[in-house]
Amino acid sequence: MDFNLMLNAHRGFAYLILLTTAIFIVALLLTMFGYSGKITKLLRKSTLFTMIFFHVQALIGLIMLFFFSPGFKAAKEAGILMKDAVSRNTYVEHPTAMVIAAVLLTILNKKFKTSDKLQMGWVIMAVIALPLMLWAFQWSRLFGA
Ligand code: HEM
Repeated sequence: MDFNLMLNAHRGFAYLILLTTAIFIVALLLTMFGYSGKITKLLRKSTLFTMIFFHVQALIGLIMLFFFSPGFKAAKEAGILMKDAVSRNTYVEHPTAMVIAAVLLTILNKKFKTSDKLQMGWVIMAVIALPLMLWAFQWSRLFGA
């Protein structure tokens, strides 16, 4: 498997995740502020698809990180992985935060699938997962020059 192919797949799925996450946020807000607090089909589906894409990203990302990434290897060998802010963000903070967000999303998907009404604890879980993901997102690498 070629590193560039994996990086391009990782980039492609990133756009999909932005789309499904936006739908997830709208669906969550609608449910939160809806009169009944009933978990809607839109919230269930948007959580499911965001979670699936996150799992795919985690798989591609971890394989890239540990087996292919020339940047990670170079930073490790030069001993600057944690010293250099860009390397630390790309190869440590980004993967760690995204894995935590993926775990939280997996729990949320299970809860939404098996319950009828939204609970405060799950909203808190989403309020941790979403900013974590938005912070760790590689905005400048995806949309920058
Ligand atoms: C869940 C675990 C994840 C891991 C382990 C991971 C790992 C990585 C690694 C190692 C890189 C840098 C590759 C390199 O330049 O050598 C990277 C870049 C990137 N990741 Fe992730 N990632 C994960 C999740 C995600 C998610 C969920 C998204 C999007 C929502 C995402 C979007 C991106 C983007 C846009 C880049 C920059 C690509 C580029 O520079 O062309 N990643 N990721």
